[in-house]
Amino acid sequence: LFAQSWDFMWGTKFFHQLPPIEGVEIAFAGRSNVGKSSLLNAITGRKSLARTSNTPGRTKELNFFRPEKDPTLVICDMPGYGYARASKKEVAAWNELILDYLRGRPNLRRVYVLIDSRHGLKPNDIEVMDTLDKAAVNYQVVLTKVDKTKLNDLKKIIGKVELGLKKRPAAHPEVLLTSSDKKIGIARLRSEMLLLSEG
Ligand code: GTP
Ligand code: MG
Repeated sequence: LFAQSWDFMWGTKFFHQLPPIEGVEIAFAGRSNVGKSSLLNAITGRKSLARTSNTPGRTKELNFFRPEKDPTLVICDMPGYGYARASKKEVAAWNELILDYLRGRPNLRRVYVLIDSRHGLKPNDIEVMDTLDKAAVNYQVVLTKVDKTKLNDLKKIIGKVELGLKKRPAAHPEVLLTSSDKKIGIARLRSEMLLLSEG
């Protein structure tokens, strides 16, 4: 699937305008600016398939991407939650859309919850993880931008996140480390996504 060219499929601000359910869906969630769109680009091998920006609040819709010739796997790049340089109204609308999608998408196979490895878990991340646990949606924490974090700080953050995950009702896969800039953890994510799309 990742040898193919990936295409933008559909984008929407509204839950009632989601694309039809087709194949397995995997979503990238996380606070604004953690690197969701960059990770999508790294994984699909296309530099600017999804728009990225220094300014938090770049992605404003649920954006769906899929391989050109194979609709078995769809990746959803989400707007960020938590903070953004956007109006309160816009942020509230995104949060509602994000929660509706995460709770109500039957073919959502896995959510990658992206956390900036420099900042660690924030209250908004906990809220999203609570929502996913309640809805029994499978998720995995991904620490991003590890190229920017010192090894010692990284170890501390991994420890904290893993401790938090252990206290949760369901078991969760181990924390992944990624850098879209240095292409760390990308091959691993691709192979996991392939397995998810087949199973
Ligand atoms: P929103 O759409 O606003 O929610 O943000 P996002 O989570 O999609 O983040 P985006 O991919 O737009 O990246 C935000 C900023 O972080 C950009 O300036 C990226 O270049 C930078 N960035 C993303 N991934 C990495 C990484 O692995 N390493 C480094 N050093 N910077 C990164
Ligand atoms: Mg984005």
